[in-house]
Amino acid sequence: MKKRDFLKNLSLVALATPFYGSALASHAEKASKIPAHKLASDEEFWLNVRQDYKLKPDYINLESGYYNIIPTPTLEALHKNIDMVNYEGSFYMRTVQWANKKRMSEKVANIIGARKENIIITRNATESLDMVIKGMDWKAGDEAVYAIQDYGAMKLMFQQVAERFGVVNKEVSVPNHPKTDEEIVALYEKAITDKTKLLMVCHMINITGHILPIKKICQMAHSKGVKVMVDGAHCIGHFQFDITDLECDFYGSSLHKWLAVPLGTGLLYVADEHVDTLWPIFAEHKTEPGDIARLNHTGTIPVYHDLTIENAVDYYELLGGKRKEARLRYLQEYWTGKVRNEPKIIINTPKESHRACGIANVGIEGIEPTDLAKKLLDEYAIFTVGINYANVQGCRITPNVFTTTKELDTFVNALKEMAS
Ligand SMILES: Cc1ncc(COP(=O)(O)O)c(C=O)c1O
Repeated sequence: MKKRDFLKNLSLVALATPFYGSALASHAEKASKIPAHKLASDEEFWLNVRQDYKLKPDYINLESGYYNIIPTPTLEALHKNIDMVNYEGSFYMRTVQWANKKRMSEKVANIIGARKENIIITRNATESLDMVIKGMDWKAGDEAVYAIQDYGAMKLMFQQVAERFGVVNKEVSVPNHPKTDEEIVALYEKAITDKTKLLMVCHMINITGHILPIKKICQMAHSKGVKVMVDGAHCIGHFQFDITDLECDFYGSSLHKWLAVPLGTGLLYVADEHVDTLWPIFAEHKTEPGDIARLNHTGTIPVYHDLTIENAVDYYELLGGKRKEARLRYLQEYWTGKVRNEPKIIINTPKESHRACGIANVGIEGIEPTDLAKKLLDEYAIFTVGINYANVQGCRITPNVFTTTKELDTFVNALKEMAS
């Protein structure tokens, strides 16, 4: 073989190899031999992972909760998918578009212990959850239960069904520091009446990072004939769980948050018995009974974003769900542990490990949350977001796998300085 052909073949093999050139790929094998809880504090390993990200040097990014920057290997896969779809044009759309989308559902279903028959890919958690709220057969006087800490978009949809169908909404307020799971279950239980049809609950409250006892809430609600829709916008790719273990009826999530899929991707899980009962957002042709495709008419969308789900899942699996969860929880406990007992500093996130993971919220007595976020950015070059509602006054702090403990030390020093 001529030298030029050999080099060409070599580069084609390299391009076809997943994560060619990825820093994680070069260190994944070594990492796989170290237990996740030990690897969580191995700064050298995580500095390698950081190399897979192109980070803006102007500030320390502690706001991964809105959108997770995607690592370079996934970004390159997205670019290739855009090129391919553009190259094939309508041929792609008319031939393999739908088969590929089903493959993506299966890929995500596998990491959350679901069957592909119960999963559809949506554009975001708002679409998934609003489809359920809007798509139920509501009658005047039916009741719904949710928390004031829940996400605004879903609360707006509950208000819309209240105005449109006469649904009565009941709001509970989840304490930031519950003593037991039963305290939270009882809170939701008290709001249920014989008219309650749907209960919405966050798997992880976005403003505090508080993880709620979903299975216990579902069992309590089901014993009263109430369906449960779980808002898991922040959970897939953040910490590990099996959807079927939760025993919920519906589960909606964003994929562009912790799974680090390109923007505009979400997921909806619907338990078997509800697949034929919901009204989809966009009407679909008649499908076979139990075919979840009836809920997934979308019109024409940027399909290359969906197509990159498999690359993002591959990257996530290479890193390892258990390893990622352990690192994120380690980072949160690293910084909260240094300030939890400091005077004037208020942590709005539970301390027990199983009630939180990467996200936490911190306030400083006497400083408005938006002022705190502004001071952090202007004076310390740290980007966060200020939250001031539903019993939560503070900045949401969301590190990521690229965050270093050195960055968190800078943040901790900033907090201590401002509090003193
Ligand atoms: C708890 C929660 N639910 C739903 C959403 C909506 O997600 P998306 O913007 O992907 O629709 C968010 C977004 O931050 C959220 O935090």
